[in-house]
Amino acid sequence: MDPTASADYSYLRKLVFGLSQNVLDPAHDYLFESRLSALLRNQGMTRIGELVHHLRAQKNPLLEHAVAEAMTIKETSFFRDGHPFEVLRRELLPRLIEARRSWRTLRLWCAACSTGQEVYSLAMLLLDRSASLAGWNIRVEGTDISNQAIERARAGLYNRIEIDRGLAARHVLRYFEGQGEAWMVKPALRSLCHFRQANICGPRLPFSRASDRFDVILLRNVMLYFSQEHRRALLTGIHSLLSPDGVLILGSSEQPADLSLWTPVLSGGACYFKPREPS
Ligand SMILES: C[S@@+](CC[C@H](N)C(=O)[O-])C[C@H]1O[C@@H](n2cnc3c(N)ncnc32)[C@H](O)[C@@H]1O
Repeated sequence: MDPTASADYSYLRKLVFGLSQNVLDPAHDYLFESRLSALLRNQGMTRIGELVHHLRAQKNPLLEHAVAEAMTIKETSFFRDGHPFEVLRRELLPRLIEARRSWRTLRLWCAACSTGQEVYSLAMLLLDRSASLAGWNIRVEGTDISNQAIERARAGLYNRIEIDRGLAARHVLRYFEGQGEAWMVKPALRSLCHFRQANICGPRLPFSRASDRFDVILLRNVMLYFSQEHRRALLTGIHSLLSPDGVLILGSSEQPADLSLWTPVLSGGACYFKPREPS
């Protein structure tokens, strides 16, 4: 590779790591071209070199953030991987609902929710039980580093391909209304879901211990992009935000490096983690 291009990619990898803590593999440098093509067009640029020259010449936090955002992988779908949602439906939510019967409050958080399908999937599981949750205070929080992903999540508008990936017909009919070729989340589902942009590897997590703790936290398919050091710090912070009887669900290929804070539980083809008292 020509040394200038190699230096440009190295600059961009460092920039992305500095802002989102995503570690990009130099073997995948070719991805910069496709992932940054829309951003280059919007900036009236044609080459990565121009972008890097511009970023080096003057501080532009908005553009830097847009680069980091464009480089994150936003792959997601409704009820992704099936098993964790089945375990939530069958085992975890009934147990938590029983335990919270006198508080009548449930708090759930998808810590890297991309375009919102994971958040709406959790909310559908809860609304499916609306008969037993009437009058409860329920919040499903969704955060992601990408502003664009959060805007899409808030809009709650999904195309036919996105709807076909993971949604049963009964859920489409009950919780979505057709809008031309697309489907819009109905108000009852939307009212449980709250979205905001946040970096989960920043100096502070987007929620503090002082507010109520969470009953369920989903941190799925994002830790694999972080360094070991950031994974460890993030899981320590997440641990402090979970209720003692709450659960953490990671992606199917992810697990905490340090099991001193977590008890893994295998159930129904999925694995979830219960917080342990720090020793
Ligand atoms: C592969 S998607 C996973 C989405 C969803 N959790 C799922 O499993 O379907 C990873 C998401 O993590 C987000 N992300 C990456 N780094 C992040 C960070 N430092 N803070 C918050 N979100 C981040 C990306 O923008 C992307 O939307």
